[in-house]
Amino acid sequence: MHIMRRRGWEIPEHRATPEAVFLNRRALLGGAAGLVAASSLGRNPALAAEALYPARRNEGYTLDRAVTPERYSGDYNNFYEFGTSKTVLPAANALKTSPWTIKIDGLVEKPFEIGVDDLIRKVGLEERLYRHRCVEAWSMAVPWTGFPLSKLVALAKPGSGAKYVQFQTFLDKGMAPGQRQFFYPWPYLEGLTMAEANNDLAFLVTGVYGKPLPNQFGAPIRLAVPWKYGFKSAKSLVKVSFVAERPKTFWEGLQASEYGFWANVNPAVPHPRWSQASERVLGTDQRVPTLIYNGYGEQVADLYKGLEKERLFV
Ligand code: MTE
Repeated sequence: MHIMRRRGWEIPEHRATPEAVFLNRRALLGGAAGLVAASSLGRNPALAAEALYPARRNEGYTLDRAVTPERYSGDYNNFYEFGTSKTVLPAANALKTSPWTIKIDGLVEKPFEIGVDDLIRKVGLEERLYRHRCVEAWSMAVPWTGFPLSKLVALAKPGSGAKYVQFQTFLDKGMAPGQRQFFYPWPYLEGLTMAEANNDLAFLVTGVYGKPLPNQFGAPIRLAVPWKYGFKSAKSLVKVSFVAERPKTFWEGLQASEYGFWANVNPAVPHPRWSQASERVLGTDQRVPTLIYNGYGEQVADLYKGLEKERLFV
């Protein structure tokens, strides 16, 4: 497992995790189930994937702020498939997440489909503390559980013609009332370059707060790309495709002047309708300055060398 060295803006974990309940739970479970290597569990097909939570925390990913309590992050969500308000939790209960398979196709050695639980057992899980910055200028900090996207890329074995990875959310108008709104370009689509997808920070998320993802967070599997605005982190994925052309993403299809392909966080580049200089931290009455690449510049700035002519921050 790749461990990154601690950077200046990081603080020790015990200061970044104020939730007593969360800590107690980890203390109880961490020694037993939490520290069992996922790879050894993978040999026991009878064991439910839920037994893999809470997963061992990768200490290479720490925060400069407190973890957002779940009562705030879990009740203030963007999930347009279930409506445009932030209170999608009740509607998202209709999302049936088991069984759930994900298709890997496009320019790969051999397309395949795999159940999310099988995938989890195959690649193993870890926990990482990540910041999340929405383009609407609010932010949160959460303990995601999942695995690096690069592990899925390795399983897919893309050919040299693959330049981008495209992520697709489920399409089911019966289950998701928002998808009956015909003016949205469903299904929700997002994309990354191959280099971005293989960056160590790009993470496929299957859990949060030490347990499987609640529906409103994008169960059973979503993306987390913490240096980009939150809309890049597509939820409830059913397909990952390796493609030659840059995908036309959901928000770009709706309003390209405001939401582009790159969408890297930059406090100096305002949204056409509001400033991106600062952000409201969920669960607090604080506004804090926004950081370039959401504070992850050291890990990702190199990805954009030579691309300065692109609209990197929209
Ligand atoms: N994915 C899908 N399928 N549908 C959505 O509406 N909203 C995006 C992103 N992924 C969205 C999505 C936006 S704008 C943000 S900020 C994050 O999900 C919100 O994630 P959260 O609800 O876990 O905070």
